[in-house]
Amino acid sequence: MVNETKPQYSPGLAGVIAGETAICWVDPAAGLMYRGYDIHGMAEKATFEEVAYLLLNGELPNAKQLAEFTQQIAAQRALPDAVTEMMRLLPKSTHPMDMLRTGVSMLSAFDKDLNDNSHDANIRKSIRLIGRISTLITDGWRISQGQKPFPEKPELTQAANFFYKLDGKIPEDWKSRMLDTIFNLYADHEFNASTFAARVTASTLADIYAAVTSAVATLKGPLHGGANEESAKMLEEIGSQDRADAWLTKKLQTKDKIMGFGHRVYKKGDSRVPAMREIGRDLGKRTGKEQWIPICEKLEEVMDREKHLCANVDLYAAPVFWMLGFPPKLNTPLFAASRVAGWCAHVVEQHDNNRLIRPRSLYVGPELRPYPGSPK
Ligand code: COA
Repeated sequence: MVNETKPQYSPGLAGVIAGETAICWVDPAAGLMYRGYDIHGMAEKATFEEVAYLLLNGELPNAKQLAEFTQQIAAQRALPDAVTEMMRLLPKSTHPMDMLRTGVSMLSAFDKDLNDNSHDANIRKSIRLIGRISTLITDGWRISQGQKPFPEKPELTQAANFFYKLDGKIPEDWKSRMLDTIFNLYADHEFNASTFAARVTASTLADIYAAVTSAVATLKGPLHGGANEESAKMLEEIGSQDRADAWLTKKLQTKDKIMGFGHRVYKKGDSRVPAMREIGRDLGKRTGKEQWIPICEKLEEVMDREKHLCANVDLYAAPVFWMLGFPPKLNTPLFAASRVAGWCAHVVEQHDNNRLIRPRSLYVGPELRPYPGSPK
């Protein structure tokens, strides 16, 4: 047996630099930037398409480039009939994240650029994926509810279209502006678990659909994107601000993980929380549902007192999505509708400068021993 020097080991890869990226930087001291632009300020002003363009291409678009890019995504939203039919064949109880994962995987078979990992082909496929992931979610949801998908309206932006494709109504401008901001906050977060999964898959030179399928599968887990659906259940169970302290204290005594709290990188607060909290307050006033944000704030206070843990974006995303009228089962798919831009940007970056991602493991099994009956 070869004697190896004992490798450095960090459980969960905590603190490990696993690659370089020029796309995004998460500042542990509650900051976030995309391609050198601070997310604060940009998230509230830019459309999702502008941020997606920036992530994919490295620079902000000018007005003409943005108009073209917005139109290109919208033109790609329609799904192949067979994919819509596949969603009809799935049991109505299928979780939207499972339907989405299956849909992304199936879409690969309809893309003539599938096995071309060149930069230009990857950008073309990214545009298709951004457009179609949105449709997989909205049409998939309607099909699971026994309803027909609405016809395409390519004149709508991604944010406005997401509302329209769910209930057939074109949203007020303030609503799509809000969803643009939310999409912008969720669009990328460097080497988070789903993006890392996408990069590992892409690093084998598998195609972008394979990578994004891995990413969707990874996003589903409650320690990652699935947390925003779980925190909706938690808030519903708590119900009112005066119950929050006792509820949380009891859960912490039994060592439960509290969804929407804690983060691997942020230790002084999640950069996205202040903007999401503000949207929540605004929505509370607009919808008359002012009970939800005070519950979250109470939980933050108790969590700080008991564990010194900060809230993450998924705590506030739950009431925000609720007040915007989205069913909680779509919370994680909404995250995916935005993060697809980041996933694609990372796959493009990985393929443009690839090296197989293949770490080592620390063997902790039995010492070498003879197989029964083999000579000593
Ligand atoms: N609720 C209760 N305790 C938590 C917690 C949470 N949400 N997050 C972390 N902790 C505790 C851990 O139990 C651990 O305590 P210990 O030292 O007494 O054992 C300590 O804080 C460190 O946590 P750890 O699990 O090492 O952090 P991590 O970096 O491995 O995990 C998360 C990060 C995000 C997975 C974790 O905070 C978590 O599970 N959060 C809930 C899910 C969630 O909201 N995910 C979305 C992230 S954006």
